[in-house]
Amino acid sequence: MTDHKKTPRPPRNEPDIRVVMMPRDTNAEGSIFGGVILSYIDQAAYVEAKRQAPLRYVTVSMKEVVFREPVHVGDVLSLYAQATRIGRTSMTISVQVMAERFAPPPSTARVTEAEVVMVAIGDDCQPREIEIESSGGSAS
Ligand SMILES: CC(C)(COP(=O)(O)OP(=O)(O)OC[C@H]1O[C@@H](n2cnc3c(N)ncnc32)[C@H](O)[C@@H]1OP(=O)(O)O)[C@@H](O)C(=O)NCCC(=O)NCCS
Repeated sequence: MTDHKKTPRPPRNEPDIRVVMMPRDTNAEGSIFGGVILSYIDQAAYVEAKRQAPLRYVTVSMKEVVFREPVHVGDVLSLYAQATRIGRTSMTISVQVMAERFAPPPSTARVTEAEVVMVAIGDDCQPREIEIESSGGSAS
């Protein structure tokens, strides 16, 4: 159940992606296509994967994504991505999607979250090991 009195808090201060929803992103009902948001989730996960280790990545899976709130033209979407597990060749990244609406009164809504698994690949397009430098980021 949605608690409209509480404003959800984003997981980190700075989003990996922030984007304004445009008329070109809508379906015939006037709300934003889910596929547009899935695409941004994929990109946010990619940003986080690159930050953890600067390799080539492909997306191998995106676990069930439930859209809890509609997104409208003019909403500002913020996507927060965080690596939660780094395996031998794959990385699991949690992505949270928040919508900021400015029509009075201003509000923030938690739209959805996703668990994305990205696989590091080599020049042969086959999985390759992910090596994290000790001074680099961590999957905390
Ligand atoms: C991703 C890809 C390279 C994996 O190849 P593969 O032969 O299945 O590789 P492996 O079985 O060795 O698995 C590699 C890693 O991916 C993980 N993995 C594979 N399938 C997975 C799945 N369905 N869900 C979660 N993780 C998965 C494995 O657990 C392994 O992780 P680990 O090394 O950290 O333990 C291959 O499936 C591929 O190229 N897929 C297409 C990716 C793509 O083009 N995505 C964009 C869609 S347009």
